[in-house]
Amino acid sequence: MFYQVYPPSFCLADPDGRLGRLAPPHTSPGLARLAGGSGDLEGVRRRLAYLAWLGVDAIWLCPFYKSPMADFGYDVSDHCDVDPLFGTLEDFDRLVDDAHRLGIRVVLDLVPNHTSVEHPWFADARSSRDSAHRSWYVWRDPDPDEPARPPNNWVRAFGEGPAWTFDQATQQWYLHLFLPEQPDLDWANPEVEEAMLDVMRFWLERGADGFRIDVTQGLGKDPALPDAPAEQAGIPWSEQNDDERTHPILRRVRRFLDSFANEPVSVGEVFLLRTETVARYYGDGDELHLAFNFPPMFCGFEASCFRARVEEVERFLTPRNAWPTWVLSSHDRPRHRTRYGGSERRARAAAVVLLAMRGTPFLCWGEELGQEDAEVPPEAMLDPGGRDGCRALMAWDSGDLHGWALPEGHKPLFPFPPEAAVRNVETEAGDPGSVLSLYRELIALRRSDEVLRLGHSRLLEAPPDLLAVERFAEDGRRILVGVNFAPSELAWPVGGATVLVSSAGEGHLCGPAEGYGGRLGPEEAVVLRVEPTAVA
Ligand code: NOJ
Repeated sequence: MFYQVYPPSFCLADPDGRLGRLAPPHTSPGLARLAGGSGDLEGVRRRLAYLAWLGVDAIWLCPFYKSPMADFGYDVSDHCDVDPLFGTLEDFDRLVDDAHRLGIRVVLDLVPNHTSVEHPWFADARSSRDSAHRSWYVWRDPDPDEPARPPNNWVRAFGEGPAWTFDQATQQWYLHLFLPEQPDLDWANPEVEEAMLDVMRFWLERGADGFRIDVTQGLGKDPALPDAPAEQAGIPWSEQNDDERTHPILRRVRRFLDSFANEPVSVGEVFLLRTETVARYYGDGDELHLAFNFPPMFCGFEASCFRARVEEVERFLTPRNAWPTWVLSSHDRPRHRTRYGGSERRARAAAVVLLAMRGTPFLCWGEELGQEDAEVPPEAMLDPGGRDGCRALMAWDSGDLHGWALPEGHKPLFPFPPEAAVRNVETEAGDPGSVLSLYRELIALRRSDEVLRLGHSRLLEAPPDLLAVERFAEDGRRILVGVNFAPSELAWPVGGATVLVSSAGEGHLCGPAEGYGGRLGPEEAVVLRVEPTAVA
């Protein structure tokens, strides 16, 4: 079970250290706000005990590398150093040591598709057409007849502009699937791959346990850079690029990772919204270990949508032995409770889906508190992709600053989510009926129950409002997961079943398992233990 830690929004522990490292004046209002109100690595370290208490196996640590923060760290200017905003390499080492002591693995965010414009590689590349790093990025000549027209119709993510910027000094266009401040690296150049493997080696030797690979689907590109089909021309190319050249790259990355004794993991962010396509990024067990499967994130609170997504996972991943992942919230999309209309009841039922399906769940910081997105007025937005709301700060206690050691006169980087006075770790930890207690029960159940953790999965026939999934082992042990998506009660008769966890209940796991009455409450999800089937 992974827990996503977004360093700017998680916890601040050493504000004085940071103010010492980052002397004003700041080059932008965004940086000034970051300097005063962002989290740091020492803050993550101090909260590891909480994560261990929650039952987390691994953290996915979002970028903390040197960066001008045009995309909050996904614009890296030095892959092998910590941004002074977040701390130092020594802070990182301490964090990894403590995490390992607590049995938590630390998986880093690798950003291989692009760098910052301020990266020395790009500074050199743009210095002249003959520079050593010129061919590390993707450059194209202007069309002599139409010099103002970009080389193709690709649209960048964030804003609707072209995925190209013209470099006046050297009179060529450079490609950027994201912001102009994030030029794409050219993975067709073996030097780029070599450099990125060196980056991975650097962190693995410092104790990292693997990488979440940003924009995995962007690495291999057709060198002809053909136009997007007309009907898809308005969709960012980063969401469409799916080129065969990525697969040999992933096979080499996998071989590289496999050569390390601690078995580092690769988790691909494959932002292509078809599970059938995502499945191919596992190769024949020789590419990614895990790939994010985003389609369920785009379901409303509807049984038919979730049933279809579970069915696709079983159809496309299971036959190739590809281990699924489940994610409902992240730093890129509105949180699932917000997407489901702000309903806590729905958010609780969805937690059962996240933690009881076959595969590895990824939790987003604060999701376990039932946090909603913060409301951020447009004029206060910092993120170029408008994602400030889902990046709301973690609330640790009920005090005014919710456990954030903000320096005098500084405001939090992002706002706190609604109801932080009650929806915080301290308050919810003491309440057996809280969302936090439900997550903890579900996580503990996964840890203790092999069928839930590793068992097979079979989607069951069910009435229209019900998602019913059987988890089973070869020896006949069985668990049923039922989710009622309707706002009214629903009959779901199951013989000889006991309730292990109910999204509506309080502290089931702590007490003895309860008999199941054959009905699900409105928008209730349950995990049931049923009599084993006879094994021939
Ligand atoms: C995906 C990351 O999750 C997102 O936050 C970032 O903006 C883009 N990749 C670009 O790196």
